[in-house]
Amino acid sequence: MTDLVAIARSFFEPGKGILAADESVHTATARLASYGISTSVEMRRQYRDLFFNAKGIERYLSGIILFSETLLEKGNDGELFSASLAARGIFPGVKVDLGTEPFSASPDELITQGLLDLPTRLAEYKKQGAVFTKWRAVIRIDGDQLPTPMALHENAKRLASYAKEVQTVGLVPILEPEVLYKGTHSRQKARSVITETLGTLFSVLEEQSVDHAGVLLKTAMVLSGDASGKKDTPEEVAGDTVAALMESVPRQVAGIVFLSGGQTPDQATENLAAITKYAKSMHAPWPITFSYARALQEEALSIWKGEEGNIPVAREAFLTRLAKVSAAV
Ligand code: 13P
Repeated sequence: MTDLVAIARSFFEPGKGILAADESVHTATARLASYGISTSVEMRRQYRDLFFNAKGIERYLSGIILFSETLLEKGNDGELFSASLAARGIFPGVKVDLGTEPFSASPDELITQGLLDLPTRLAEYKKQGAVFTKWRAVIRIDGDQLPTPMALHENAKRLASYAKEVQTVGLVPILEPEVLYKGTHSRQKARSVITETLGTLFSVLEEQSVDHAGVLLKTAMVLSGDASGKKDTPEEVAGDTVAALMESVPRQVAGIVFLSGGQTPDQATENLAAITKYAKSMHAPWPITFSYARALQEEALSIWKGEEGNIPVAREAFLTRLAKVSAAV
């Protein structure tokens, strides 16, 4: 366990964070299509290569979360992605949940699947070079109806079972209960839902004796819903986000990473800078960094468009964004 705690802490070297590149086949297909890029196994491999083989990413990245498909693939240099990342000091990780399905007890809510064959898959992923893992639960806010305590509890139970299995095989778990930015809710509502979601999660982790010191929490920022008509200032986001975390996250947790959730790259960067600054002034007990997918990839993807000739400029845009996000932490 000591090794796992040390690995969990080492994601937070100054200026470093995690790239979430674990889009499932379904999500990657939709993402690429939104940039006019048609998808295939080969195109998805090129997409990963664009980011993973950009020169100098190790200055900003301590880890990259892969999709299971990518864990077995090689880059254009002929090296397995996992091995070439590890050689550059970037931990390769893998998303291990199998996506969501409607929760039978409350069909407007989602529940994450993937526990059944998890031990077998974890053993495979470990052999394939994964050092850490991620499991995402999805929580939707809808007025005062959603989320229900029942759905929060069921998702928390599954996150806890996942974390236990992962720690048993000697990998680091990232727990991601994502409270969606989508909606018309107020920032105050997001704050109370995030506080409740995390409070539920950590009480279930405690019951199942998951070692807090060996886990990373991946969370959304506290924001007014994207359709609320309200644009929060970074100071408002920082105040409410840090307050929600201080209320619900045990101090032993190895660290907190943020998802970007559909914010623009600039918004995700500015809000993160305000959060880390405010957390420091409040003497928050955990290190904080980024674990973005969209906010880190968006600019590069819109330049790349699937064309080989656009790769150098697209990579430059990626590195520029990485440098900005790194400066924010
Ligand atoms: P975004 O940063 O695009 O929200 O993605 C992070 C993530 O890992 C979602 O599961």
